[in-house]
Amino acid sequence: MKIAVIGTGYVGLVTGVVLADLGNDVIFVDIDPKKLSTLRSGKVPFFEPGLEEILSRCVEDGFISFTDSAADAAKASEIIFIAVGTPPAEDGSPDLSAIKAVAHALAPAIGDGYKVIVNKSTVPVGSSDLVSGIIASHGVPDSAYDVVSNPEFLREGSAIRDTMEPDRIVVGATNPVAAQKLIDLYSPLSGQRLVTDPKSAELIKYASNSFLAAKISYINAISRLCEICGADIRDVAAGVGSDSRIGGQFLQAGLGWGGSCFPKDVLGLLSTSKQLGYDFGFLKAVVDINDDQIAHFISKIETRLGGFEGKAIGLMGMAFKPNTDDIRDARSELVIKHVEAKGGKVRGYDPAAAENIQAAYPNVEIVDSVYELGDGVDALVLVTEWNEFRQIDLKRLTEKMNQKVLFDGRNVYQRAVVEEAGIEYFGIGT
Ligand code: UGA
Repeated sequence: MKIAVIGTGYVGLVTGVVLADLGNDVIFVDIDPKKLSTLRSGKVPFFEPGLEEILSRCVEDGFISFTDSAADAAKASEIIFIAVGTPPAEDGSPDLSAIKAVAHALAPAIGDGYKVIVNKSTVPVGSSDLVSGIIASHGVPDSAYDVVSNPEFLREGSAIRDTMEPDRIVVGATNPVAAQKLIDLYSPLSGQRLVTDPKSAELIKYASNSFLAAKISYINAISRLCEICGADIRDVAAGVGSDSRIGGQFLQAGLGWGGSCFPKDVLGLLSTSKQLGYDFGFLKAVVDINDDQIAHFISKIETRLGGFEGKAIGLMGMAFKPNTDDIRDARSELVIKHVEAKGGKVRGYDPAAAENIQAAYPNVEIVDSVYELGDGVDALVLVTEWNEFRQIDLKRLTEKMNQKVLFDGRNVYQRAVVEEAGIEYFGIGT
């Protein structure tokens, strides 16, 4: 099939590349000429395991092309994916200006043959109607197009596998013909199919991300109880998660959830609830627990060090999670800002996100190897659980520290093992 993908961020690029890999002709659209030239050369402008290999192969084989014109791409395509950003506005509601601009740009290209326009961006309830309304306002007849909601559930770091092997494919459409087009397009992929109306599909996305965030906040709240009563959160989470009705995933206690999706989507759902007149107190508590979890961790470090003034800490990992270079709403940012504001110094190591941190926080001293982190610091703070930290030589890591103190924000280590190496250990709920 001939496909247009408007927006080459995570969601757009991964979706389009996977569809091209399955044999479709994909035209990517972006307004950023620098991004387009990087992509044309087969390179991905961010870190996502496996993505660049498939992109460069598909570019070489002619399955992928690029343009800066949404209208040109739409004219040549049967299915048009909108995958532009919906960042939170000041009040937490998603900023839909990019979606609206795309809808206006597409309208003149529609009318010559039936087109399915797919909202792939995470958009609030009612956005399919919004896009439809904008296109109709240009005088395009209803019969020429349908707008379908098809939310994306891929995770950064495992985006290709998540797209190739999704748990479910959700299609929200008013016209069964449009729904069937998408079902046909996705026929090579595994996973349950759920065809519903656009509003339900839009809500499924927000409700899923908010539920996952709630699961994490819940286990983090339990971790606080563990710290007070002397229980171990890892055993508690294992015991709770082994009930198949609950499930063990997303019960890893830590510094809380960050990234480009959960913070934005939880706020988005809160804003939708407010607009609909429902006071979603539960979800507000999910946010409060998340804010409190990192604040509590930072205050533990501050108390142990007797303040940050004149102190140095070494950050193990700075990306918002492993296997990505993304630092959007990373917990590391909150640690850096706090320590620097209180007169301390931060040194940091991350296998992928160091450059991004350096650009945003020029005072952070970046080191190239985790073993250089300990040199002259007063505490090591593990923020991101990269695999390479799991079997690290703890003695070598800490030998040049001013004092051997390790704050493990993701419970990567066993207390006994760390203490055996002569290091003071602080974990989460343990
Ligand atoms: C999330 C969802 O998992 C995807 O299904 C969704 O498609 C995506 O948002 C999106 O809306 O685009 P992502 O943000 O890439 O994916 O990352 P996750 O693996 O979900 O992690 C989110 C945050 O939760 C991270 O900060 C991670 O450290 C934290 N987390 C996750 C925990 O603290 N504990 C856990 O047990 C799991």
